[in-house]
Amino acid sequence: MPCCITPSILNSDLADLAGQLKRIHGADSVHVDVMDNHFVPNLTLGLPVVESLRRHTDLPFDIHLMIEDPDRWAPQYAEAGCESVTFHVEAATAPIRLARELHRLGSRASMALRPATPIEPYADLVTELDQVLLMTVEPGFGGQKFLDLVLPKIARTREIVRRTGQQIGIQVDGGVNLDTIVRCAEAGADVFVAGTAVFGADDPEAMVEALRQKASSCEFSGCAGR
Ligand code: DX5
Ligand code: ZN
Repeated sequence: MPCCITPSILNSDLADLAGQLKRIHGADSVHVDVMDNHFVPNLTLGLPVVESLRRHTDLPFDIHLMIEDPDRWAPQYAEAGCESVTFHVEAATAPIRLARELHRLGSRASMALRPATPIEPYADLVTELDQVLLMTVEPGFGGQKFLDLVLPKIARTREIVRRTGQQIGIQVDGGVNLDTIVRCAEAGADVFVAGTAVFGADDPEAMVEALRQKASSCEFSGCAGR
């Protein structure tokens, strides 16, 4: 499976979201951060904005829900036609039931972990998922410094996924740039969210390609030859 680059629009010009999507044509999907000011200390956008934005692009939507009670809210994003919906395991009451519900509604199911949440208690349920998102900053804000301490968890998650024999993506989110993407890819990540790195660049489109090249060139990368 080739690497996926999924730019986060959180730190782009939020007054011109449709215009921002035109700057990342070459991306594999667009990462949309939904925050409720409860699960994280920040408030962004919700379903009505996602539904409007959906009509402005053919890019697949990679929704990252940083909200309480995703069991209640996440299915509505699948119903809105979002291709992938990520919920946080720390907030979900019934992650298996929720993953199955997202599948029933036609979306990919993805489960996120904060930096301090271990993967091991959830090893047996990754077979229910299409993707595991490992946060590489504390969720809530763009532009934070990458946490190298998450790298061993990426490697352990890759091993858990390998043992399942299934195609399950490992997404990293937070502080991903031309430097840190290499360490993530070598540890086993294959889906990369980048906000500031992409939208802070003079040419976001070229940055998406540069990030893809960096990740794909890693000798021991989770992307290479898969
Ligand atoms: C943070 C969000 C991230 C963020 C990434 O809680 O989930 O998606 O926008 O932005 P950068 O790449 O700037 O860390
Ligand atoms: Zn995110």
